Amino acid sequence: MILLDGKRTSEAIQQEIAAEVAEIKAHGGKIPHLAAVLVGNDGGSVTYVTNKVLACEKVGFGSTLIRYEDDVTEEELLVKIQELNANDEIDGFIVQLPLPRHINTQKVLEAVDPRKDVDGFHPANVGRMVAGLTSFLPATPFGILQLLERYNIETSGKHCVVIGRSNIVGSPMSILMAKAAYPGNSTVTLCHRNTVDLAYHTRQADIIISAVGIPGLLTADMVKEGAVVIDVGTTRVPDDSRKSGYRLRGDVDFENVAPKCSYITPVPGGVGPLTIAMLLKNTLRAAKREIY
Ligand code: GUN
Repeated sequence: MILLDGKRTSEAIQQEIAAEVAEIKAHGGKIPHLAAVLVGNDGGSVTYVTNKVLACEKVGFGSTLIRYEDDVTEEELLVKIQELNANDEIDGFIVQLPLPRHINTQKVLEAVDPRKDVDGFHPANVGRMVAGLTSFLPATPFGILQLLERYNIETSGKHCVVIGRSNIVGSPMSILMAKAAYPGNSTVTLCHRNTVDLAYHTRQADIIISAVGIPGLLTADMVKEGAVVIDVGTTRVPDDSRKSGYRLRGDVDFENVAPKCSYITPVPGGVGPLTIAMLLKNTLRAAKREIY
């Protein structure tokens, strides 16, 4: 069993990005700049966005964090997005999800200029991805492709079972794994909450990618010997022995599943760190006008 070290892979990617930024600087070019919009004080979101901004500093990007209270109006957010769209200093920006219920998330995501949509959530980028055109790929699926690629994991002709159909991970992941490119070229099954007999599907999988947020959902009896298991789950569960009061648990019963796997991601330290690296990569691509 080989542990897929997301932390090390993420650091390698960030070093590559930092080297490119140094090169841009040396030639007097514009430093890439990422802005993040954060609404409210949800613990997970605050941590994620803080880490994104810190990662910008580490690779030499400029960064801007824009915070609002939970009661911000949709109109205020839309005005800010128009401002970010028009600001030439900002190469890319994200609106951290989830947003409060009184805000129409889809309307907000569609207000983002697709050329600055480094999360890849705008329908223009989703459509381009489905059509096989260059686009900003959502960071988590993009990170998983990087892990598969950098560990030289064979995906062509393999049966890949994706669990979860979110717009952020499961749906784009299923599309990308079916594409005729490496890493991809897989036969894909997309499972979700209405799937009858999940284990029937997962037992046939060469590659399992679970992105549902149910701790311990994938147990050893559901996994074929030699499978590749990618765990996207990061659910906070109470843990009094920690200063934070919680620990992160994945969708996979790691202790019992790992011995059966050829490759497996840990939680934490698996997919999570890659998400930030790929957001930076997308920001660099935006700054270099690689997509549009
Ligand atoms: N919430 C959970 N994952 C993400 C992400 O990748 N981007 C944004 N903007 N919000 C998220």
